[in-house]
Amino acid sequence: MNVLEAIAGRHSVRQFRPDPVPDDTLRQLVEAAHLAPSSWNLQPWEYLIVTDPGLKRALRAACSDQSQVEQAGAAIVCLGSMRQQDALADRVEASIRPDATSEQKERSRRTVQKMRHDEVFRRSHVITNTYISIAYMTLAAMEYGLGTSWIGSFDPDMVRVLLGIPDDFVVVSVLAVGWPADGLELLPHKRRPVEQIIHLNRF
Ligand SMILES: Cc1cc2nc3c(=O)[nH]c(=O)nc-3n(C[C@H](O)[C@H](O)[C@H](O)COP(=O)(O)O)c2cc1C
Repeated sequence: MNVLEAIAGRHSVRQFRPDPVPDDTLRQLVEAAHLAPSSWNLQPWEYLIVTDPGLKRALRAACSDQSQVEQAGAAIVCLGSMRQQDALADRVEASIRPDATSEQKERSRRTVQKMRHDEVFRRSHVITNTYISIAYMTLAAMEYGLGTSWIGSFDPDMVRVLLGIPDDFVVVSVLAVGWPADGLELLPHKRRPVEQIIHLNRF
């Protein structure tokens, strides 16, 4: 399967066979997701793979009772690490060269300040970059014939308590990953006409 086939063939799959997904395959998905690009090479993503039936059932309850979370072989809780954001601020601070001009130093210090203290920036930086990695995972799943269902509707506090997620991780999404149900009919993609979204040279 080439990349364009994977992109065109991916649909949200919301009905799964209950068969497990091999550990090795889940690991391959995480490895693919880990190759995603990120701003300043932040790599904020971490993945908590839930395969335990009781935990998946409880996770379903925390995900607006969406049945695919329990049905799929794995429910992958996609986390964004604020620790990585702090580590990035440290890296940027350490990279300020002693021979930089005072203007350059001031610009870098402002960047570091924003990275450490601007909570709106910090959260969105971690979340947007984690999303990119999740998108990679959904495409990598295609290579194995796996379906994915991206879940954005969940109660983050419930998920956090259920799975013991530390406070300095953002619960970004849940991704149900599993074998599509037999005979599942996937409808054509519903998208706005491409003409509506292309702008050439000037808006
Ligand atoms: C951030 C995000 C959150 C989503 N949340 C949900 C969700 O909670 N439940 C669901 O069934 N689908 C969810 N989806 C899937 C979208 O509904 C789906 O991607 C969209 O309708 C396009 O369909 P397609 O994925 O089959 O191309 C989510 C997708 C994204 C990217």
